[in-house]
Amino acid sequence: MRGFRDVFGADADNLTQLEASARKIFKLYSVAELRIPTVELKELFVKATGDTTDIVQKEMYAFEDAGGRLLALRPEGTPGVARAYIENNFAQTSPVQRFFYIGNMFRAERPQAGRYREFEQIGAEFLGAAAPATDAEAILLLKDIITDFGVKNYSVKINSLGCAKCRPAYRQQLIEFFSAQKDNLCDKCLSRLQKNPLRVLDCKIDGEKFKNSVPKQQLCGACANHFTEVKNLLEGKINFEADPMLVRGLDYYTGTVFEFLAGASAQNAIAGGGRYDTLIKSMGGADAAAIGWAMGAERVCAARGQNTAAQDKKVFVVCMDQAGNKMAFNLMQTLRAAGIITEGGLFDKNLKTQMKQADRSRANFAIIIGGDEVKNNTAVLKNLQSGEQKTLPITEVATSI
Ligand code: HAM
Repeated sequence: MRGFRDVFGADADNLTQLEASARKIFKLYSVAELRIPTVELKELFVKATGDTTDIVQKEMYAFEDAGGRLLALRPEGTPGVARAYIENNFAQTSPVQRFFYIGNMFRAERPQAGRYREFEQIGAEFLGAAAPATDAEAILLLKDIITDFGVKNYSVKINSLGCAKCRPAYRQQLIEFFSAQKDNLCDKCLSRLQKNPLRVLDCKIDGEKFKNSVPKQQLCGACANHFTEVKNLLEGKINFEADPMLVRGLDYYTGTVFEFLAGASAQNAIAGGGRYDTLIKSMGGADAAAIGWAMGAERVCAARGQNTAAQDKKVFVVCMDQAGNKMAFNLMQTLRAAGIITEGGLFDKNLKTQMKQADRSRANFAIIIGGDEVKNNTAVLKNLQSGEQKTLPITEVATSI
């Protein structure tokens, strides 16, 4: 099916490595895992993600179940986390909660390189925390994960979208500015001009066209101070560019927003996020400020490319004498218990076939057991790169790898 894929080989390995980096760094930042359902009530996304967004208007996999409930496959994780925070009364145990999630998301977008209909997001949400330090921490958490994983070339953009005090005036200013430019706007921007004029700013066509002439947001004192403090805290720890044209495509954002970009393709956002200080309350929860982000795992993997770090050694156990099968099988288990990656066990095949498979499996060593070895309780250790080989007592094999 277009946009849905089987993931295997190096692609699967890369995703697993990225998840391992993420889990390691989440632990350092004291962020706990939250597993949220893949399916939620459609209404949750309409309300939280926002009914003016492309996601809700065009991209949701929504359906009616046998009980007549309107459900949707999650297109993003933030609404589910916000719902869980409210439903599980997390704010009562501790108002400040730091969660991460790793899971597949679904959006019926037009598939192309880096854009799938089912894709993996790794995300973090800090709930109940309003200080600028939390914004900086969230951004550095994201940076630390992709750095640990090995992404080297990326850029970071940040902006502030203002709050309920300063944003309405800016919205109005944009509506007026773009209304006077109606003949110069693309169809998409024309249709969202009244409902979501900020989106025109990050339109690939019109955003670029009006970059210099469009009025820029005047933040209120509180938002300006908050944004300045975030930038101060980030200074010297990450390279970033403050970009007044960055707005992001979801309705719940307030204040700080950011995006990590890599590569030149149209799908160059490897991660994005921002504050959503009013979302929890608007969903019936506490008045809890929040900030979070999600990375597109496939895009982060593409931004790094192949893993160049040294790989663990691997051995392939070959046995050519039926009488040695048990000895060879026991050796495989001993090697694994010693932490060595071990394959083999094709003892019904001839030597040539087993050695061919050892090569195909990209093992570094073959361990070969034949008639002589069975008799002497030894094994032949062959380095598959150099061709060098030596005979060892079976008990010394694991320590010789
Ligand atoms: P988003 O910008 O919609 O934000 O998605 C985050 C990332 O998911 C994108 O930067 C991109 O790397 C990846 N992504 C999105 N769509 C696709 C796709 N069709 N195929 C492959 N990758 C994709 C959110 O989802 C927000 N929930 C982030 C957030 C969390 N904001 C606050 N908390």
